Amino acid sequence: MSDGGTVRILGVAGSLRRGSFNAATLRAAQELAPAGMTIEIFDIAPIPLYNEDVRQQGFPAPVEDLRARIKSADGLLIVTPEYNYSIPGVLKNAIDWASRPPEQPFDGKPIGIMGASAGVMGSVRAQYHLRQCFVFLNALIMNRPEVMIPQAQNKFDADGKLTDQPTRDFISAHLAAFKAWALRMK
Ligand SMILES: Cc1cc2nc3c(=O)[nH]c(=O)nc-3n(C[C@H](O)[C@H](O)[C@H](O)COP(=O)(O)O)c2cc1C
Repeated sequence: MSDGGTVRILGVAGSLRRGSFNAATLRAAQELAPAGMTIEIFDIAPIPLYNEDVRQQGFPAPVEDLRARIKSADGLLIVTPEYNYSIPGVLKNAIDWASRPPEQPFDGKPIGIMGASAGVMGSVRAQYHLRQCFVFLNALIMNRPEVMIPQAQNKFDADGKLTDQPTRDFISAHLAAFKAWALRMK
């Protein structure tokens, strides 16, 4: 963990799509992070499907890596779409892998959640399902401000840059609060 007034955050996107609005939101968060906050992005694409038989042989390398990075970060920022009103399977799968004993890394970890979706609800249902998982895992989820990005297809340019100023402002406010939250929990 880092010292003083700085926080190192690990960012995870819940979509593997090359043109993902959520991955683009995570990149926007990197750009909008306040002074003293860094966001390193972890790609969950290499994480295999959960299989308890495999875990009995030891965590696969990408899972070990994810667990170590969550452990050493001052907080975790998840940016996810909703799939069928819930958490995308790839993200739930990564959380399930990382959560297995010993020393599950979400315990006591500050977590911020944002999300973008094509619909008018802006991923809210996935976000609330994620919160439920993190209650069980005893993570320290920041309650608010929330960031829901509805109709994401209208808020990014062709290069995946977030162009909608109100959304940029919501993200900045979330990150400022998350920095304070992570520092409080250190
Ligand atoms: C399997 C699947 C289920 C989806 N379910 C929802 C949904 O419940 N609500 C919603 O607003 N959008 C839903 N969508 C549309 C996504 O919001 C949209 O594809 C979005 O761009 C995905 O995020 P991404 O751009 O980060 O990949 C769904 C998309 C997929 C592929």
